[in-house]
Amino acid sequence: MNNKIKFFQTDNDDDRVDGIDKVTGRAKYTADHMLENMAYAVFVTSTVAKGAIKSMLLHEARNAPGVLDIIYYQNCPPVPGYRPYAKDPAKKGFEWRGLKVFDNNLVYYYGQPIALVVATTWEKAVKAASLVKAEYITEAFETDFETLRKNEKKLKPAGQYKRGEEDAWKNAEVSIEAEYFTPIETHNPIELHATIAVWEGDDKLTVYDKSQGPKGTQSELARNFGLDEKNVRVITKFVGGAFGSALRSWPHVPAACIAAKVVKRPVKLVLNRRQMFTMVGYRPQSWQKISIGATKEGKLTGITHHAISNTSRYEDFREGIVNAAQFLYECPNVNTSYKILPLDINTPTWMRGPGEATGAFALECALDELAYKLNMDPVELRIKNYAEVHPVSKLPWTSKFLKECYAAGKEMIGWHKRPSIPRSLQENGMLVGYGMAGGVFGAGRGNATVKAILKNDGTLILQSAVSDMGPGTATTMVKVAAEVMQMPASKIKFQLGDTDFPPGPTQGGSTTTSTLGSGVSIACEALKQALKELARTIIPSFSTIAAEELGIADGYVVSKKDSQQKISFTELLQKAGKPEIEVIKESTRATAEFQKYAMNSFSAHFVKVHVHPTTGAIALKQIIATGDGGKIISEKTARSQMIGGAVGGIGMALTEEALIDHTTGKYITDTLGKYQVPRHRDVPFIETYFPNKPDPIINPMGSKGVGEIALVGFAPAVANAVFNATGKRVRSLPIKPEHLI
Ligand code: MOS
Repeated sequence: MNNKIKFFQTDNDDDRVDGIDKVTGRAKYTADHMLENMAYAVFVTSTVAKGAIKSMLLHEARNAPGVLDIIYYQNCPPVPGYRPYAKDPAKKGFEWRGLKVFDNNLVYYYGQPIALVVATTWEKAVKAASLVKAEYITEAFETDFETLRKNEKKLKPAGQYKRGEEDAWKNAEVSIEAEYFTPIETHNPIELHATIAVWEGDDKLTVYDKSQGPKGTQSELARNFGLDEKNVRVITKFVGGAFGSALRSWPHVPAACIAAKVVKRPVKLVLNRRQMFTMVGYRPQSWQKISIGATKEGKLTGITHHAISNTSRYEDFREGIVNAAQFLYECPNVNTSYKILPLDINTPTWMRGPGEATGAFALECALDELAYKLNMDPVELRIKNYAEVHPVSKLPWTSKFLKECYAAGKEMIGWHKRPSIPRSLQENGMLVGYGMAGGVFGAGRGNATVKAILKNDGTLILQSAVSDMGPGTATTMVKVAAEVMQMPASKIKFQLGDTDFPPGPTQGGSTTTSTLGSGVSIACEALKQALKELARTIIPSFSTIAAEELGIADGYVVSKKDSQQKISFTELLQKAGKPEIEVIKESTRATAEFQKYAMNSFSAHFVKVHVHPTTGAIALKQIIATGDGGKIISEKTARSQMIGGAVGGIGMALTEEALIDHTTGKYITDTLGKYQVPRHRDVPFIETYFPNKPDPIINPMGSKGVGEIALVGFAPAVANAVFNATGKRVRSLPIKPEHLI
């Protein structure tokens, strides 16, 4: 058993430690920072999808009020990271990630940044940017995924897998085969992406940036601008949502740094909402074909899953669309293939639940289809094919409580009310349907370094260079520290969002709690040790007590044998003449032991829908989101994660779709008015359930992670409920009323 933390304190509630700052507006998001002498930069973007800039007409913009400079490919200063091997051939292997902004006159997609106007105010920069005109040499472009994906020559192989016999489903007693389609979806967090760059001389750079990983941004900037990492500081105090869009740096980050260098002033660059569609990634479009075979009794005998998703012309992006088909269920014969299709649009990236969410739509709808064909309950079908060990690696899971999720979901939604015959239940004139689907995601753990500083007033400060895009990282980490130190959460502060703190992980892939919590736990254990040693060294009555005979509780070092013999942290530090005591510890992935296990979080989503029999309007009436994320450290923030995932899942199922005009290559749905995220009225009350059983292996807390499983499997649950209500199987997202009438 690795998990030593018991979590028995009850006096620490789950309120977000930064909740008041956020709701009162005191919290400073990246674009909120106002620096002295700051200039404002606004992008000019391409109005063709492919080709080259023939000329830039800058005269009018240059003479507009307040304009400091206009940066574009002809005057952009050299960026060391564009050609790192020019000076140092040893760096030949280094590849710049993504678009080299202003490096040349080539246009790869509609909406690509082609110039940056820097002015004394944002309004003046916006005005001047509107005056910049470009002339292009255009080329034929390709943006139509649905047409092009049928042309094998256009596809790049991105992964294949086979166990047992290929296409075994073809010989099965019962089988289904179907194609599934998902559109481009965009993250579109409320907070716009923003960067403020400040140079101190030529070799020292401070950047305020919306980032899920300040350390990652720091090393990227150091490489890109040929700087020492210690001379690059990245600050991300608050993040207003990201969902994956801030997992990496996009062109606006180096662009702000370039501009600050050129105008020799701090420069703020904030993307506008339209640019959020073309500059910070999105969930790629996909086509999938899935075929499943089973015995008459419902034992799976073969799964074949093929997928294609798009990438850009200048970068390959792959994700795990076909992964779950390989291991979510026990099945002797599985083969999968995955290909990517380069298009003349911007590069996609991970978006919550990433490829797994796309893949689960096909896999979990297909299982539902199979269940009807077998005349079997879809939960029963899943339990019948429950994988007790990981079917690919054949390793046991560190923990898996998916059956508990199924049982709770059924109970909570009232699954017995689900009609086994579609379109056979009505309520107040509405067709009623129940649906469920499962989700899975890796439960990883990476490296994190945490500094713990105990002050002589009895407060504890923890520091690590991570950021929090919303899950409530500081809140959770304070709870972990409170348990390890056996002290009230109110006396603990977790500081993040600054690379001056010790290195922390990028927030992504549902790993923050596991990774950072391990770091906090280890740092607090070391701090306890240091306090015991200090007591033994400087307090005479403690000098004869062995360290193992000492405990830590309620802000005291106390003898386990004689609870009267104790000294408070405050007194101890005062007696030692120390204003504070500090430890710094790195927690690393325990690779040797982890090799023996498979590590995943699991979910099962249950929904009830109403569908209007004549208009086809769909309304979610009930949602039960269940997730095995191991030990739940903060019930409130974990519940919020599940709710957020469900809301994202409603968007994926029913509303979200970014469309491109294939005659121009431009996004049609490039505002929040046209790209529809779920409204309040689309979201019913959401109930959550966690088995809340500590994972014995992964980390000292026993927690796995819930960020992705909250969304993975949600959209297919809705699609399955819609089928149950209407008898119409919609295999293309989002499901719209017109599909149902
Ligand atoms: Mo998440 S898609 O790893 O931000």
